[in-house]
Amino acid sequence: MHQNQHGLDFTAASADAVGHYDATVSAYLTFQKDTGLHLKQTLTADPEMPMAQCLRGYFFQLFCNPAVAGKAQQSLDAAKASAEKNGATRREKLHIAALEAWCKGDLIGATDRWEDILLEAPRDTLALRLAHFTHFYFGRGDAMRDSVARALYAWDEGQPDYGRVLGLYAFGLEESGDYAKAEEFGRRAVADNPADIWSVHAVAHVMEMQGRRSDGIEWLNGLESSWSTANNFAYHVWWHRSLYHLELQQLDRVLELYDSRIRGDQDSDDYLDMSNGAAMLWRLEANGVDVGSRWQELADKSERRTEDHLLVFADAHFVLALAAAGKFDAAARMLETMRGATDDTTTEGPIFADVGLPLCEAILALAQGEHGKAVDLILPIRYDIQRIGGSHAQRDLFQQMLITASLKAGRFDLARALLSERTASEAASAWSWQRYAEALAALDDTTSAAAAESKARTLLAA
Ligand SMILES: [Fe+2]
Repeated sequence: MHQNQHGLDFTAASADAVGHYDATVSAYLTFQKDTGLHLKQTLTADPEMPMAQCLRGYFFQLFCNPAVAGKAQQSLDAAKASAEKNGATRREKLHIAALEAWCKGDLIGATDRWEDILLEAPRDTLALRLAHFTHFYFGRGDAMRDSVARALYAWDEGQPDYGRVLGLYAFGLEESGDYAKAEEFGRRAVADNPADIWSVHAVAHVMEMQGRRSDGIEWLNGLESSWSTANNFAYHVWWHRSLYHLELQQLDRVLELYDSRIRGDQDSDDYLDMSNGAAMLWRLEANGVDVGSRWQELADKSERRTEDHLLVFADAHFVLALAAAGKFDAAARMLETMRGATDDTTTEGPIFADVGLPLCEAILALAQGEHGKAVDLILPIRYDIQRIGGSHAQRDLFQQMLITASLKAGRFDLARALLSERTASEAASAWSWQRYAEALAALDDTTSAAAAESKARTLLAA
């Protein structure tokens, strides 16, 4: 038995193995490129270490890709066999149970195990981070915030990973709407470790939600050099930066960032990388930009993922890429197999049934010019889209789709109402004011339309 840097007991062959394990988790917390290398060193030091096998399984599960599900299962089997042979602590057994639940698609069961661990071991950063991940994909900002807050009593300045934990808290605060506190904690985390890209990202979200686009660009500009050690998560932060430029209607800059950063690695079929790409291309088109053939590579990769159905959030972006590239048959096939994933044997099943299917049908309808159908599909579920997870900023795509569909369907009363709502909650979006002006003009309210137009112009000139 050996203790790690947070004073937790590990069943391991050597202190060296536990040291490499700590390095792996610390690297994972900040999306470092060398995370895999540290894991390799851990497994070299002790191939039977239950937590090393568990960690390997978790990492495969995090890809949300059925192609590597077998490898996750392999790690689970190895962790179980090792625990059987060498014994394991209660905490390690809970981790193995969490991985087992996750491999079966029981995300709630996995999350419950991590939360159980945190009651006894609030400095188990792996449990903390994975619960953060699943709460995020449950769309529960409040749970993200509280899960970390419940562990904070056990953390003090100077402890390894302390800043990283503050960064987790910052993102939970942001997703639950406490922007001032989120910015404060996020900035503290980044001051502690500028390479902590998750915390950089938490503050970037605050800027996005508060409509502080220039502040956001400045924030990321100052930290760019610290991302060189980060993995592909950096593309998502570039996606955030592109959102600021998009709102400022610096559209050439967005296209340039799309090619060089967001889809800088066109070999990647990682669901987050592809979601960044699809979500940005759609927004560019909604801003009147001709994106050329850029949908094609996303659609080609999505065509290989039509039977995934592990995460509604990812599937919705795959359908979007297929539909936008005109691959309607492939999109329809994906919807067909999605219907088979709607039972309640997995956590995502009911979310596919209630939200995923109608949302994906709407995405396809919108691309096929059936605008009224898209409206009728999204409108009843718009407040439930949160259940597919992702951030407020990511899910905003679907609210923009609803507005676009309403305008294109000629349902101007609805468009006016939705834009009244949108400009009330976020008054700094020129795109929203322009769409508002469009709806008002169509309803012959020329005075209000001119006022909305002027609002958009003022924002863009600022
Ligand atoms: Fe984000």
